[in-house]
Amino acid sequence: MRIGVLTAGGDCPGLNAVIRSVTHRALAAHGDEVIGFEDGFRGLLEGRYRSLDLDSVSGILARGGTILGSARLERARLREAADNAGELRAEYGLDVLIPIGGEGTLTAARMLSDAGMPVVGVPKTIDNDINGTDRTFGFDTAVTVATEAIDRLKTTAESHQRVMVVEVMGRHAGWIALEAGMAGGAHGICVPERPFDPADLVSMIEERFNRGKRFAVICVAEGAHPAKGTMEYGVGEIDKFGHERFTGIGATLARELEARLGKEARPVILGHVQRGGVPTAYDRVLAGRFGWHAVEAAHKGVFGHMTALHGTRVTMVPLADAITHLKTVPEDRMQEAESVF
Ligand code: F6P
Repeated sequence: MRIGVLTAGGDCPGLNAVIRSVTHRALAAHGDEVIGFEDGFRGLLEGRYRSLDLDSVSGILARGGTILGSARLERARLREAADNAGELRAEYGLDVLIPIGGEGTLTAARMLSDAGMPVVGVPKTIDNDINGTDRTFGFDTAVTVATEAIDRLKTTAESHQRVMVVEVMGRHAGWIALEAGMAGGAHGICVPERPFDPADLVSMIEERFNRGKRFAVICVAEGAHPAKGTMEYGVGEIDKFGHERFTGIGATLARELEARLGKEARPVILGHVQRGGVPTAYDRVLAGRFGWHAVEAAHKGVFGHMTALHGTRVTMVPLADAITHLKTVPEDRMQEAESVF
């Protein structure tokens, strides 16, 4: 079998572990040939690829980023790939394409699959918002980084009797804010799924200080927003990939809390630190398992599907199920977290 693999969209710790696992399983167990397209679908469209063998994936398990490079692509160019699926498949002699990516990549994968390309998707995103899988690799690393940041911020916040507003990634889903907030013992968690009222945060912080506590930490997802009419907050422009350019909820909220409380507040934007560097052991294992199952699915002819984690088992789910909607934080998960605020 000739297998094409690519990594597309925002990078994520664990991508290299998938590439390594696909290559090992394909070569060692099946005698396949593996090629890796560079910079996601761009490489597929522009004929940029290289052969992957055991040497080329040696030593990459623990490395962050992706050895193949990644890129976001405008919808029109993704459509171009789908329109030319037959030609692309023939040009590269592909028996299967394994695109590793988030919602945008899996949507493109579905388009290619519908257009006749045999595709097995592998979901990735630090946001953990892909429907159809309990977890995506990268999420555990992001939560670990954000949790460590909260732990560290608490000591400096307490020394200065400050409020720290820690902004974490999470465009449409607040999974990182929820889990890092819980693990780090944040005093407030704001997620995109549930508009917040700054007045609630103010009363909670005042109550803490009245009890003799000398600091507070609020963990806010980048996509969180205040409830209508509670606080000024601008909507950002939409970029060419269809993503809103956020105007900075962390900084805006810190200013608002400082003004309302009369206490110093500082924003800390964790940004891409959450996405860079070595994957955690959990993410390496999950990524490796997804790679293994993707190759097996290809050999069984389970195309138009992606790997998914259900409980402890890796299964295959139709790409169609994965892209219908995002997996967002349910209200009961927020209620569990709130019991300790
Ligand atoms: O989708 C993953 C993600 O990390 C989001 O959490 C974040 O909003 C976005 O990517 C950032 O994208 P970029 O790297 O293009 O700024």
